[in-house]
Amino acid sequence: MAGLALPPTAIPDESKMKKIVILISGRGSNMEAILNARLPVEIAAVISNEPDAKGLAIAQARKIPPSVVPHRAFTNREDFDGVLAMEINRYQTDFVVLAGFMRVLTEAFVERYSGRMINIHPSLLPSFPGLHTHRRALEAGVRVHGCTVHFVTPGVDSGPIIAQATVPVLAGDDEDTLAARVLEQEHRIYPQAVRWLCEGRVQLVDGAVVYSNVAAARGTVISPALDD
Ligand code: GRF
Repeated sequence: MAGLALPPTAIPDESKMKKIVILISGRGSNMEAILNARLPVEIAAVISNEPDAKGLAIAQARKIPPSVVPHRAFTNREDFDGVLAMEINRYQTDFVVLAGFMRVLTEAFVERYSGRMINIHPSLLPSFPGLHTHRRALEAGVRVHGCTVHFVTPGVDSGPIIAQATVPVLAGDDEDTLAARVLEQEHRIYPQAVRWLCEGRVQLVDGAVVYSNVAAARGTVISPALDD
């Protein structure tokens, strides 16, 4: 056998730094919070469906390749999602992080990244899926509100929950004050959840979230069990 080259091994290197791609549509403050957290992950690209998303400039200034897949150039969701997937896969990413990405994704796209794609939503799911969450929370008269990080599954804002943070609804709150209070918490829990995901400390197994070595941060609720 001497002198014969060994075939390249197909075993993935689990110790390798994980790569993520962040998808945005606008301001990009959650994306920025992830960048600021200096996580031990490689942020391979930031992709927007909106050419003038403010977050693209932030990414560029931080030397993260910005990229645009403009949804208006497509006549149907399938075609848009197909090109978006091609763009994501160009970076050979491990995980896809939706950070204010305002497009409903097709089931085929979601299935393709099952267990590898997460989202942040500005309410305590399953309350207030969809848009205008802060207005609807005020109208409903809830006393606590918050945000949720979840795995993305088919169905809008309905995937298994990874982490939630709560805030009080205060007398005199309007949509803006409540949104600002929630956003502060989004910026805490989303980088934390990205870290857990990339370190293999949170996984989607048979449709449920499984944690290992995850301790609750103060004010962050992680369901169902910790430290086991
Ligand atoms: C955030 O409130 C996020 O929860 C929701 O969209 C908003 C995006 O804000 N999905 P930003 O672009 O991260 O500043």
